Amino acid sequence: MSGIVGTPRHPITAQVVASFADAPPRLREVMSALAEHLHRFVVDVRLTPEEWRVAIALLTATGHITSEERQEFILWSDALGVSMLVDALEHDLPPGATESTVLGPFYVPDSPMREYGANIASQPAGDPAWVSGRVLTTAGDPIAGAELDVWQNGDNELYAVQDADAPEEHLRARFRTRDDGTYGFIGVRPVPYRIPSDGPVGRMLQATGRHPWRPAHIHLIVRARGYRTLTTHIFDSTSEHLDADAVFAVKPSLLRAFVRRSADDPAAPPGIAGDWYSVENDLVLAAGTAGEPADDGRTA
Ligand code: BEZ
Ligand code: FE
Repeated sequence: MSGIVGTPRHPITAQVVASFADAPPRLREVMSALAEHLHRFVVDVRLTPEEWRVAIALLTATGHITSEERQEFILWSDALGVSMLVDALEHDLPPGATESTVLGPFYVPDSPMREYGANIASQPAGDPAWVSGRVLTTAGDPIAGAELDVWQNGDNELYAVQDADAPEEHLRARFRTRDDGTYGFIGVRPVPYRIPSDGPVGRMLQATGRHPWRPAHIHLIVRARGYRTLTTHIFDSTSEHLDADAVFAVKPSLLRAFVRRSADDPAAPPGIAGDWYSVENDLVLAAGTAGEPADDGRTA
């Protein structure tokens, strides 16, 4: 590799790149480019020893604050737009397929399997919302037996994994689509929330004058044999912060209307009391080989 065009190359860059000469091809390509870009960055901003010390301290704090419940490295990736960039490079979707967006740091695998129509809130968490739709192929055919893995925050802004006062299974569940591809569950109307800002990412947001808000959304992962796994959101189309998501994850095609319904609406699904909302959201999967449901009985 001869360096990045137009950038003065420090002699040490060539030495570091040469040190990867015997690495497997893809690893050599990635590590060499990492060295080239990192060195160019250091030269371009004329990084001082004090700034480098601060950067190392920030990375160290990121490691220390990361736990089973808190993934600060993913938060960096999200807050710097890297998650969405990697997603954009990977997802050359066929026309009509539902777009993907960030996973985020609050996904917890192995949510309980629940039946069509179940309420995913273990305790009061906001206005009830009937969330329904179909899982379809790009040709419009229903996909039966697809797995929907859903999670969302409550009106206290928290996901169950962040909330010491909520049971683990609160506001998260897995469902299977019925023979006609339909799914339906009772969640809550999501509210905007702040990404965790009590750690290094929060310090960066504050120091740069950025806000931590995300617009209201529900998370979904959809898995079906023979189709690419889809990680996406349903965004409330009237939410605040749609134009300034802290993690750059809004795509216009993912906005949906949450329709207000009264308690006596004849369409009220069983289990809903009082006024409620409904949101319809079809999910169209691209054909592919990735994303088969786990074959270990968890999802059968
Ligand atoms: C989330 O939507 O859960 C999320 C995504 C990125 C950063 C923080 C939270
Ligand atoms: Fe979220």
